[in-house]
Amino acid sequence: MARRRVAVLVSGRGSNLGALIEASRDADYPAEIVYVASDREAGGVALAAKAGLVAEALPFSDYEDRGAFEAALQERLELHEVDLVCLAGFMRLLSGKFVDVWRDRLLNIHPSLLPSFRGLDTHARALAAGVKLHGCTVHFVRPEMDEGPIIAQGAVPVLKDDTEAKLAARVLAVEHRLYPRALAIVAAGQARVSGERVSYEPAIDAAGASLSWPPDTSSTAT
Ligand code: GRF
Repeated sequence: MARRRVAVLVSGRGSNLGALIEASRDADYPAEIVYVASDREAGGVALAAKAGLVAEALPFSDYEDRGAFEAALQERLELHEVDLVCLAGFMRLLSGKFVDVWRDRLLNIHPSLLPSFRGLDTHARALAAGVKLHGCTVHFVRPEMDEGPIIAQGAVPVLKDDTEAKLAARVLAVEHRLYPRALAIVAAGQARVSGERVSYEPAIDAAGASLSWPPDTSSTAT
């Protein structure tokens, strides 16, 4: 099966982008990254360029409005014949029109176990709420922020002496393993959306599509 052509959109340092780049270096990985863009000056663009990828900043402020920005983005996604788009720390809400064009082909990673803690400051809010498990979610994007069918999740324990920074680092380490795995599931055509829920065909056992901490490197999502 041909590898799916993936674009990654970032707004920041791009550590998740780095994890996707790393995974896609393997010729057997079912996706290749063909385009990277950001909506502002972002470390992720430099990281992608250094990896030899086509990467550019499309500063939002250069465009008249969101429609013009998204039209420019869409033009590039078509130019690079993109099949799937991954948001990786992309800090801008995309319009319903754009999201509909990419329905079930647009992924996002969010640093909480959705549907808990949508939005910002997820780690501080998890600590304040006293949850004992926290984590990250890869989901298909819908027009509402941090909404959409869940593809895969990774969980970490919240420890007694956690700070926001410690918890964030523990979650981020899982993000870097989860996003490549979730993208592989989608790129391989194994994620079916029905009734706004994702099922895996052929089936993947729970250990293959979700992660826990500390890492269990023996499970795979094939
Ligand atoms: C990650 O925590 C991701 O879950 C969230 O934004 C952060 C991006 O980090 N959406 P990075 O730019 O991938 O390092």
